[in-house]
Amino acid sequence: MSVLKGKKILLGVTAGIAAYKTAHLVRLFIKAGAEIQVVMTPASKDFVTPLTLSTLSKNPVHSVFYEKNEENELWNNHVDLGLWADYMVVAPATANTLSKMVHGIVDNLLLAVYLSAKCPVYFAPAMDLDMFKHASTTENIEKLEQGNHLIPAGTGELASGLVGEGRMAEPEEIVAFVENDILSKLPLKGQKVLITAGPTYEAIDPVRFIGNHSSGKMGFELALQAANLGATVYLIAGPCSLSIQHSAITRIDVTSAEEMFNSVFEYYTNVDIAIAAAAVADYTPVTTAQQKIKKKEGNLPIELKATKDILATMGASKNNQFLVGFALETNNEVENAKGKLSRKNLDMIVLNSLKDKGAAFGGDTNKISVIDASNKIVEYTLKSKEAVASDIFSEILKRADV
Ligand code: CTP
Repeated sequence: MSVLKGKKILLGVTAGIAAYKTAHLVRLFIKAGAEIQVVMTPASKDFVTPLTLSTLSKNPVHSVFYEKNEENELWNNHVDLGLWADYMVVAPATANTLSKMVHGIVDNLLLAVYLSAKCPVYFAPAMDLDMFKHASTTENIEKLEQGNHLIPAGTGELASGLVGEGRMAEPEEIVAFVENDILSKLPLKGQKVLITAGPTYEAIDPVRFIGNHSSGKMGFELALQAANLGATVYLIAGPCSLSIQHSAITRIDVTSAEEMFNSVFEYYTNVDIAIAAAAVADYTPVTTAQQKIKKKEGNLPIELKATKDILATMGASKNNQFLVGFALETNNEVENAKGKLSRKNLDMIVLNSLKDKGAAFGGDTNKISVIDASNKIVEYTLKSKEAVASDIFSEILKRADV
């Protein structure tokens, strides 16, 4: 999955021959899962039509400060466009536009949007080799690099027939450049995160088990969030029907508490952050019948023994990991959670109270409080599990040494 999935990209097109390549660039951004709006300089419409770009971007193209229909004149709000964008990409960026960007000249909508944009701005110069080599262009590019991101021009055959530097980077290179730049700045880049999720099943016989209602959703959302923040993720998942797709996530499926324990400790020593979101069985049958247990008169006693506490074992053998546990409580919630935090040697615990509506097993929402090692409590409102995962990582990022 591309890091651009769900991101809003404003593509600024200026009047260079390379503008014809923006049709392909828009398609690549859309393919990566981004949402695109295009702003064109009026002169760029001679090189690629607004109809092409609006069709491919599935959005109207903006190029003038106001638009007229039979009844109205509609103002194209450059501030709104600038605020809408997560990223702005000016490609091709002509010598003329580069110079105006440097000097804050606003004689078209694209330049007004550029000056209003609060997001990172990338620019891909495109011009003939002599213009590209000119001292003014070199100086303008150097100035623009302070605060913006240069997507370097390539060398090759130019529209003039000359061969040299000044070709706009190819659309594939532009997309890869933006993706890599975003990835390199993600807060968990280079970090390894271990997450346990879902229930465990403790076998009674070949067809029966002791389990619980955990759906695994919270742990899976945490895994996705960690991966989207740039981490390499090991997701140790108990039996559940969820699927997850992200190139940075390695999923290890386990069934019992013992299998989960063994998998966790294959990875634990090498990770930076570990989150125990699984609802691990506290007890398991002393023996598992090899054949299906047949129905008989009277009761069927099943003797249970305690499982190993995975999280407590992680806490006891912590070397530098930031360790997060969950506490699902029905009464004396804060007190019980604080007890687990200190007993299991955690850096942070996420508390769910079963008294809160919408915080039960299996749902799509959760209501949490976060308690850290200094016993500071942060309370959150009821949210989707996706939003809760994001809140949990923002609390981790405030405290972990990553
Ligand atoms: N946990 C674990 N291994 C276990 C039991 C629990 O890793 N065998 C983890 C859970 O993933 C969770 C935390 O410990 O992060 C709290 O689990 P919970 O069962 O609520 O706590 P317990 O210490 O078992 O206490 P109790 O069941 O008495 O509330």
